[in-house]
Amino acid sequence: MTDIPSPNTFRIKSFGCQMNVYDGERMTELLAENGMTAAADGEDADLVVLNTCHIREKAAEKAYSDIGRLKRDDGTRPMIALAGCVAQAEGAEARRRSSMIDIVVGPQAYHRLPHLVAEAAAGRRAVDTDMPAMSKFEALPARRRANPSAFLTVQEGCDKFCTYCVVPYTRGAEVSRPWTDIIAEAHALVDAGALEIVLLGQNVSAWSDGDRGIDKLIRALAKIDGLERIRYTTSHPADMTDALIATHGEVDKLMPYLHLPVQSGSDPILKAMNRSHTVESYVEIIERARAARPDIAISGDFIVGFPGESEKDFAATLALVEAVGYAAAYSFKYSPRPGTPAAVMEGTIEQQVMEDRLARLHEAIGKTQLAFNQASVGRDTVLLVERKGRRPGQMIGRTPWLQSVHVETDAPAGTMLEVTIISAGPNSLAGAVCQARTA
Ligand code: 5AD
Ligand code: SF4
Repeated sequence: MTDIPSPNTFRIKSFGCQMNVYDGERMTELLAENGMTAAADGEDADLVVLNTCHIREKAAEKAYSDIGRLKRDDGTRPMIALAGCVAQAEGAEARRRSSMIDIVVGPQAYHRLPHLVAEAAAGRRAVDTDMPAMSKFEALPARRRANPSAFLTVQEGCDKFCTYCVVPYTRGAEVSRPWTDIIAEAHALVDAGALEIVLLGQNVSAWSDGDRGIDKLIRALAKIDGLERIRYTTSHPADMTDALIATHGEVDKLMPYLHLPVQSGSDPILKAMNRSHTVESYVEIIERARAARPDIAISGDFIVGFPGESEKDFAATLALVEAVGYAAAYSFKYSPRPGTPAAVMEGTIEQQVMEDRLARLHEAIGKTQLAFNQASVGRDTVLLVERKGRRPGQMIGRTPWLQSVHVETDAPAGTMLEVTIISAGPNSLAGAVCQARTA
């Protein structure tokens, strides 16, 4: 028998992408439905679920250092479940790396968490990294709680096999959730207070239900009363259809924002990454998106220091940043991931060179972000108020272009608030209230 009793309280710590945040919310609902209570802030939990990310080495290693810290002063520890993509990638191996792990549960198996917890409490350590396509959603309880901006997973997995990426291995092949399930969950989220729904998928624009694509799904969701805003992320350039682009010009509730990772501004590097687009074809998509919706904000992801990246390749990336004028962008140092084709490629870039390129890329992105934000100053717009700011009386809301705006107001989270933008920095704006409009 184990010395870990059956848990009454739990804490879920999610790392990495928005899909992990969504999965964390669903695990919370599932455990609560099974009679457990979320531990209060600062309170010791009987069960800790680490919902991990495997995309870069640093994120994956964090899981193990966090496990070490869960040991209590009196020598005891909570029951520990390793969930998410590290669990999927390492399976039973994870337990060999840390004997403190009681449960290993992958992203397609977490609906079985209550059963795995019971097994662990009975002294049977449990590993479940099966990938039954999407059956988890049927086994999860209905949505009853929602943030003003709520995530909704519509698609999981990836068939693109970019040479640096673990996602096709950790999240599996591309699978779309059925239309009716998504519409039902969207209604439940709106009934629970969501004003915005962010459709999530590793390749969200590849979502399809027979001959219906995500454009049709967005149009259907836009008909839901009480839903004010729709977003989707993340898209691959190869799946940006004309129909989806047209939706940006025709559906008012679809926000003017497109997250379209490019990774590099150099064609030879894009080829080595197996990205299936060129710089030119990427820029052409952005031009089409801007033709459909001239004010659309573009964001992207970049990797610096991919094997073989020359100074000339990197200069092309900097030039692309400037040419596109990103409203936001995320940049990462290349991290070799076990089992991916790029991990064994020649032409490794030195850490120092990577650091230097990352700093220069940050600077270039900072400039385009600031220019984008400064162009908003003086504009009247509507915020979705999402949370409290740091100062008393201050709230933070988002513009349609996903900019964070600080505003002095007594309007609670979940209010649509008309503001004038009064100042802008690279990462946030300040606004002044025009007139409250309750949704
Ligand atoms: N190293 C660095 N960054 C990576 N990403 C994906 N795999 C890696 C890797 N091996 C980045 C890409 C992707 C984002 C989610 O993470 O930019 O778009
Ligand atoms: Fe990874 Fe490429 Fe798929 Fe994105 S499109 S999840 S980067 S393999």
